Amino acid sequence: MTENQLNLKIKEKIKSDIDFEKLENKDWIPIYLNKKYLSGDNEKYMKMYNKLSKWYDFWEKWIGFFIYGNSVAKMRTNLMEHLEWKNGASVLYISIGTGKDLNFIPKNIDLKSLDITWADISFGMLKKCKSVWKNKTNLSLVNCCAEDLPFKDNTFDIVFHVWWINFFSDKKLAIEEMLRVARPWTKIMIADETADFIEKQYKKSIFTKKYYENRSFDLSEIEKYIPENVKEKNTELVWDKKFYCITFKK
Ligand SMILES: C[S@@+](CC[C@H](N)C(=O)[O-])C[C@H]1O[C@@H](n2cnc3c(N)ncnc32)[C@H](O)[C@@H]1O
Repeated sequence: MTENQLNLKIKEKIKSDIDFEKLENKDWIPIYLNKKYLSGDNEKYMKMYNKLSKWYDFWEKWIGFFIYGNSVAKMRTNLMEHLEWKNGASVLYISIGTGKDLNFIPKNIDLKSLDITWADISFGMLKKCKSVWKNKTNLSLVNCCAEDLPFKDNTFDIVFHVWWINFFSDKKLAIEEMLRVARPWTKIMIADETADFIEKQYKKSIFTKKYYENRSFDLSEIEKYIPENVKEKNTELVWDKKFYCITFKK
């Protein structure tokens, strides 16, 4: 698909009260960032990821591999297996980063058949994602906050987030947004680091410790924000309890 066709596909999914043509659009990436939702820590981390975007894949490929071996790849494969993939599905990945997880979608799925919307608060990460993936699949990238998705209600067959909700400014709102844009019975997945891993990894690393001082995380807080009326809710610890994975259906 051409970039113009891909932008038209995003436009179909945008809420009717947003004038898509008036959104800033850089390098074919529409930008929907409202100041209100950049408050709290979101802006700080957006800037951090804009800076880290050039090194993110390098880190996972070399430093991450040196420290954890193949276990990150195994964890990503495991997470992707928690979702209900089918060819042709419309998918929303919130906080796509550089798109690492797309390498781990089950092999029986034709990546090009998926209608994936790739959302992230960091333009730097999205640009990096685009440079890695533009020839391998269709790229519908949107620069937006998880707490303020520009998409219509009941739009996606698969909705998921991997690796950052613990530090969103408003986790509850982000979960409400995921539920809002998911179709009825869509399986939703949220995965991120456990408190133990944050203490041992981020608070110790020279690259990240200044961003994590005085930060802590409690899994029961996230669980509390998932409404009672969701179906088939399940929480698992994966990657030797370094990560949690919560799944539920709308
Ligand atoms: C640790 S990276 C994870 C990237 C990718 N999911 C992965 O597993 O490699 C965290 C990502 O969350 C994004 N992010 C942080 N806060 C966000 C927010 N409030 N809304 C949307 N994305 C956010 C960052 O820009 C970054 O790309």
